[in-house]
Amino acid sequence: MPGTEERIYDEFETNLIPPSWRDRIWEKEDFRKFYESTVKDRQAMENWWEKWADELFWFKKWDKVLDDSNPPFYRWFVGGETNLAYLDTDWQIAQGRKNKLALIWEGEPWDETSGQPKEVKKFTYYDLYRESNAFAYCLREKLKVQKGDILTFYLPMIPELPLYMLAVQRLGAKHSIVYSGFSAEAIAQRAQDAGSRIIITADGVYRRGRILSLKPIVDEAIKICAQNGHEIEKVVVVKRTGQETSWNEAKDIWHHDLLKDVPKNVRIEAQRLGSEDFSYILYTSGTTAAPKGAQHSVGGYAVGLYATTKCIFDLRDDDIYWCTADIGWVTGHSYIVYGPLMVGATSVMYEGAPDFPGPDRWWSIIERYGVTVFYTAPTAIRMLMKFPEENVKKYDLSTIRIAHSVGEPINPEAFRWYYKHVGREDIVASSTWWMTETGHMLTGHFPGLGKIFPLKPGTNGYPFPGITMKVLDDDGNPCPPGVRGYWAITSPYPGMLMTLYKNPQRYIDTYWSRFKDKMYFYTGDFAVKDPDGYIWVLGRADDVLKVAGHRIGTAEVESAMIKHPAVAEAACIGRTDPVKGEIPFVFTVLKQGYSPSAELGKELKGHLRSTIGPLVASDAVIAFVDLVPKTRSGKIMRRLLRAVIHGAALGDVTTLEDGVAIEEATKAYDVVKVALEKTEG
Ligand code: WT7
Repeated sequence: MPGTEERIYDEFETNLIPPSWRDRIWEKEDFRKFYESTVKDRQAMENWWEKWADELFWFKKWDKVLDDSNPPFYRWFVGGETNLAYLDTDWQIAQGRKNKLALIWEGEPWDETSGQPKEVKKFTYYDLYRESNAFAYCLREKLKVQKGDILTFYLPMIPELPLYMLAVQRLGAKHSIVYSGFSAEAIAQRAQDAGSRIIITADGVYRRGRILSLKPIVDEAIKICAQNGHEIEKVVVVKRTGQETSWNEAKDIWHHDLLKDVPKNVRIEAQRLGSEDFSYILYTSGTTAAPKGAQHSVGGYAVGLYATTKCIFDLRDDDIYWCTADIGWVTGHSYIVYGPLMVGATSVMYEGAPDFPGPDRWWSIIERYGVTVFYTAPTAIRMLMKFPEENVKKYDLSTIRIAHSVGEPINPEAFRWYYKHVGREDIVASSTWWMTETGHMLTGHFPGLGKIFPLKPGTNGYPFPGITMKVLDDDGNPCPPGVRGYWAITSPYPGMLMTLYKNPQRYIDTYWSRFKDKMYFYTGDFAVKDPDGYIWVLGRADDVLKVAGHRIGTAEVESAMIKHPAVAEAACIGRTDPVKGEIPFVFTVLKQGYSPSAELGKELKGHLRSTIGPLVASDAVIAFVDLVPKTRSGKIMRRLLRAVIHGAALGDVTTLEDGVAIEEATKAYDVVKVALEKTEG
């Protein structure tokens, strides 16, 4: 609930100052003054961003920093022209980084005999440039890809993924990347919405020592598209695992065949793209079953990304930077590919599972490449900290100087473990808050500004300079320190999404209509500010789950469930999980003629796997109940269900759903509880 006192920070508020930063401490007040100077008025804010834009390459400079004549459709660096591929390769080469390592890729397969990974590939900026030019040539000449086309990628963490991204940007085409843990239906839905006629995929992927297939999932997606009247014309398949693969001569083409007979050293000039053209769309979950296509710009996105990469990761020429995310999520788009390359860094990319062949794989990667700046997710830290400390202690991680996290709140225990074991209690570490929609990090600690302010375990730090964010009550008024409210962004900033693809009305309704009369961006999160001004994001305020840091709409799960013939009704709630943060817990009412059984439970999980994807299915718990309690107006009593699964007594649920009689709630509570005990027993 907004408006309630929230003093979580009291428990663990300590001011940590990493020793090597002791003489570079920015007293909180000093930082606040600096921050205020960047947001005090419109001109100050524009100056702050313009300073960063000035550092970047532009084919043509902008005429206007911000056009806010038609909110919420803000346009940044209007009149400017640039290109993400140009910034990431051509411009780097022009700055003397031609032979600098841009990307280090490590495959998952492990050679027990040598104690080394079986495959490592290293790309200089020149390598990336040459290869992405060749890819771009083939897309343009052989597949007739043109400026403005949207290509759907369903690719694992292999080097072809960033290379195709750069190729697409070079041509002024756009990508829509679907995470490789999603299902055929999810791909179909997205490819169709984006109007893609080309899908780029791989035969399969290595995961935790096993080979999983991807191509058959794409085959299935194509069928679904066809049934809906959308034709996928071509499928490019990268041979990764070499497994047997279904083949359709009419549509399928091997990536290595596509790349045959490319003229030597072929160059494709990077398209001059308008700053407010778009660079990609990325679908993300919300409170309805249909995913939303967050549409990102070219110029504004580049500027926001550049500034945050520099300030928060403080990347220098000799850094080795590693972000452990998957490129299928926004974190990977922004902070494995576009951001680090834009600042000329060396970015590490790892294909596989963190615990293969053992729970020390990540630490061995840090040691082997001498990683200096690290970016990961709390869920991974919580998973790895369960293993004996020896796993991390036997590696030399002393190269690390900055290590941030993202995706969900970091609990102080996980922060402390991270700070101590990965950071030897001498690094800058913070929990950087942002979302798919924001394009880049919006809070954290900013060592790249030269100084830092003290760390506090679990906090999200401060808003990034130039950005105004507030904790608000229901009416859009600021909550005092210590009081929980809705987390809102109250000023525009360059990397913000432009709109939802082909759906501007939904863009307005979803994000900009929460606070009456006020043009504020509603994030969907709860947060609280402590008396020092540090932000603590508490979690989602809407019906969206964060499962292992991944965003999943409860409505998506529910709508998938009721597509199964045995299911009459379903209500999906997040259950707290010590490692994953949350897992989907699905209250399921069966249709007449079906009865609960372990087999049916399995079948339903299989059904979730094929409709949403393994990502959701592997963690979901399905519980059979006789009813899903609802209010008179037909809304699922989520708070009550949440109380039941967390074992809270009914009396603990102080505020029940509006308009629900207490007797009704008590009855529902008992029915659900009994059913649950049966499932779990
Ligand atoms: C949601 C956005 C942006 C990268 C990955 C997630 C939660 C994200 C934090 C953090 C607390 C966080 C929020 C947000 N979240 N980072 N540091 N502390 N919560 O992107 O999938 O679009 O999810 O993730 O709930 O709304 P996403």
